[in-house]
Amino acid sequence: MILFKKVNDIHKWIESQREKQKKIGFVPTMGALHQGHISLIDASTGTNDKTIASIFVNPIQFNDPSDFEKYPVTIEKDIQLLEQAGCDALFLPSVNEIYPQGFPVKQHYDLGYIETILEGEYRPGHFQGVCAVVHRLLTITIPDNLYLGQKDYQQCMVLKKMTEITNLSPVPALNICPTLREEDGLAMSSRNTRLNADERKKATNIFQALVLLKNTIQPGNLEKLINEGLQNLEEAGFKPDYLVIYDAKTLEPVIEWDGKRKIVALTAAYLNEIRLIDNMLLN
Ligand code: PAF
Repeated sequence: MILFKKVNDIHKWIESQREKQKKIGFVPTMGALHQGHISLIDASTGTNDKTIASIFVNPIQFNDPSDFEKYPVTIEKDIQLLEQAGCDALFLPSVNEIYPQGFPVKQHYDLGYIETILEGEYRPGHFQGVCAVVHRLLTITIPDNLYLGQKDYQQCMVLKKMTEITNLSPVPALNICPTLREEDGLAMSSRNTRLNADERKKATNIFQALVLLKNTIQPGNLEKLINEGLQNLEEAGFKPDYLVIYDAKTLEPVIEWDGKRKIVALTAAYLNEIRLIDNMLLN
């Protein structure tokens, strides 16, 4: 695997690959890699000639400074995992390489409704930061395919919109890969490493709350079911920001369900200081 730290160097390498008609897959990450990330690399190596991963802990997508400071960094282990997975190139830029004009970043992404709800509501500015960094990374890596995890369901929709409203060429095809889970169902996440033993045991309840919704949902009014789910989370020691059932395509709230519309349950909840998110398609 080739390691690049400078935009100019990776750009030259990518241009030479494109001249050779190589198909490029790109997996953006913030490091602290786990098998969920590796499944994205696997998906990319399966269909592209070259797979590029990036590791960049993007300061402008953290609305909580302490979350940024405590974000786990495990570069050496990450490099080893990427190499074992057959990743061809790793881009490991500094803040200056990504944001040469400094802060605040000038471009505003007109994301509309999708930015006003859930993570957009609870983490103001978060999705603007995500769009800024992924837009920049895509202009550097010029991939044919972009790989993202379903664990960040709303982020996938936001980034799809970003690729449609900016003038990327080519517009990368978005490949959304399933959430990988630990044996007890907890969705794999870099933030899980911050859970202590007691929190780690309790953390499975966020998955259990979604499973309960999936197993017991019936057509009709969904409010009682949602309240039960929220109560379960609270009894398990979580402080939920939200637990909702929304239309899987538009992320509009679904209160009366006809039994047919594709729906998704999404949740974000704190276990002490650590905020976990998860989601599950219900039908
Ligand atoms: O999902 C993430 O890890 C980040 O939001 C991303 C897409 C790498 C942008 O920083």
